[in-house]
Amino acid sequence: MARLPVLIDTDPGVDDAWALLMAFASPDHEVVGLTVTAGNVGLAHTVRNALRLCEVAGVDVPVFPGCADPLVFPAEDAAYVHGRDGFGDTGYLPPARKPEAEHAALAMVRLSHAHPGLLLVCLGPLTNLALALRLDPTLPARIGRLVVMGGAVTGQGNTSVSAEFNIAFDPEAAHVVFEAFPAYDLVDWEAVLRHGIPHADVERWLEAPGPKAAFYKAISRRTREWSEDRRGTHWHSADGLAMAAALAPDGATGWVRHALAVETGGRLARGATVVDWGGRSGRPARARILLGYDPGRFRALLAGALGVPTGSDPPA
Ligand code: RIB
Ligand code: CA
Repeated sequence: MARLPVLIDTDPGVDDAWALLMAFASPDHEVVGLTVTAGNVGLAHTVRNALRLCEVAGVDVPVFPGCADPLVFPAEDAAYVHGRDGFGDTGYLPPARKPEAEHAALAMVRLSHAHPGLLLVCLGPLTNLALALRLDPTLPARIGRLVVMGGAVTGQGNTSVSAEFNIAFDPEAAHVVFEAFPAYDLVDWEAVLRHGIPHADVERWLEAPGPKAAFYKAISRRTREWSEDRRGTHWHSADGLAMAAALAPDGATGWVRHALAVETGGRLARGATVVDWGGRSGRPARARILLGYDPGRFRALLAGALGVPTGSDPPA
């Protein structure tokens, strides 16, 4: 059976890296490109990290540099979580490969024509996609499914009281995207918190043979230590959950559709994703919000991405 083309927009970033390894490992998908944005750290680092990860995974996927800044206002990165270089400051050897000359936004438009029905997975701020939509407003018609990691659907944020990092980094871009697509799947931060993985299990998986586990063990060390200090016994792979829902939607145990708007102003809640749970606004319910994902399926996808032999990992 033909593999489903998938384009991933990403700001690698430690959790992005695991999600990318999941996509590379999927027998049912062909990763046709990585469009890279600033976010977790600056664009120079996120592009370099994407290139290096492709080398470690042994995949020849084109990497397209995108936007170095949000559309309108500057934003703080998340180097305190991912390290200054976004990959745990391990001082890894620079990638031999070079990025493509084509801008990410232009690549998105071109690849949507080359692969109509494309699965588009967004794991970082939505600046590149917003720009692509301004270049070609017909883009959504050629996207089979859009999956976004972002938002906090009842206002329990991770980068501010009420906002999640990807949306808060570029709220204007998120507004453009969420108003342009008639339907999209949203894996929000609060769903991520419901699907934590014990650090002990992650550490066992990182002993798997091969370069992917070894590389990921090195680049994730700092983030795992930070997570244990801040959040306790479980690690929360935000982009990993979004990628699981993207690659294996049958593992989802529940979705709800609601209208959603992004707060782009305000003193207290800029970047918040305001969900119309009661249907009061009369606005179209474009967001399909993930409620739950099968834990065993999620663990198998995560572990398999690192090279853990299938079936060798006891279910949760
Ligand atoms: O809020 C979590 C999201 O922000 C993840 O995508 C993480 O990589 C950062 O981009
Ligand atoms: Ca990310």
